Amino acid sequence: MIIPKKIQLANIPTPLQTVKFEGRNFLIKRDDLSGLELSGNKVRKLEYLIYQAKKEKADLIFTTGGDQSNHARAAVIAAASAGIKSRLFLWGKDKADADGNLFLDKFYGAEISFLNKIEYSRVNEIMFEERAKLLKKGKNVYVIPEGGSTTLGIWGYISFIDELSKQMDLRKIEGITIAAGSGGTAAGLLVGAALLKLNLKIIAVNVLYSKKEIERKIFHLAEGCILDFKLPCDLNKNNLILLDGYSSEGYKKITEDKLSLIKNFAKATGILLDPAYTGKAFTAYNENFLIKNKGMKNIFIHTGGIFGIFGRRREYLKAKI
Ligand SMILES: Cc1ncc(COP(=O)(O)O)c(C=O)c1O
Repeated sequence: MIIPKKIQLANIPTPLQTVKFEGRNFLIKRDDLSGLELSGNKVRKLEYLIYQAKKEKADLIFTTGGDQSNHARAAVIAAASAGIKSRLFLWGKDKADADGNLFLDKFYGAEISFLNKIEYSRVNEIMFEERAKLLKKGKNVYVIPEGGSTTLGIWGYISFIDELSKQMDLRKIEGITIAAGSGGTAAGLLVGAALLKLNLKIIAVNVLYSKKEIERKIFHLAEGCILDFKLPCDLNKNNLILLDGYSSEGYKKITEDKLSLIKNFAKATGILLDPAYTGKAFTAYNENFLIKNKGMKNIFIHTGGIFGIFGRRREYLKAKI
């Protein structure tokens, strides 16, 4: 078994809290508190990816995501802290008054190319074409795909399971719920649980890709990681549960009902959820576990996304409770 090295970027262990919402207790792992500028789930993956970029003596990193990508923002900041420049390939349009993550991307000096949806569907090709051009000029580029989800990046959530197992007896838990964008977080959790021989359900709420597509991505990453790092475990595919239909309004949109839940939840608990990932995942968690009083058997991971809120200030303020 090969255990990859990493740099330290995240404030871990993040707290595991028992929180009460609408009269019911539930468990929440606060990965939104893994840092400030560098916060949320992405920072755990970037610890491994930036280590590798440094090892390969990268002059710059390329990465990608939506125009409010939390991953892209975190990658820019993590790279900057390692003395590496960034170029982003973002799905969306430039805005003069860029807010949230896009504002931070610009503030930290990332070079940005904006892509339409069709171009974004072949973004990996585009990044590797651009990399080849720079290689000819003697520049070394480390390419990080969407969400930092590679067989190396998902180690962030393999080691997360180890961290969580030191905070509580995971044999008493039935499942862990998370938002799935690129699928790396879910894949890491599946592998981490398999390595510790835990029969844990990983409940993923797909916000970006269809159920079929995200399942394929998650298994591809998890199986690839087991092979690449010669891990002594087998994947139990039945342990991945997809809660589909919680982002049918589209990745870049959010329904008024979900915004109301976010506002209610914030007022009741003080915890802020984001519009693209955790607001949707929490809606699913609430309907499937919390209102059924199963919140102490199922952990909700708050994966961060705080800066995405600032791109949606008006909708957040208008939300009714
Ligand atoms: C706040 C937040 N939560 C969850 C996710 C999903 O993580 P993954 O891409 O590993 O599925 C992301 C990124 O995509 C994110 O930014």
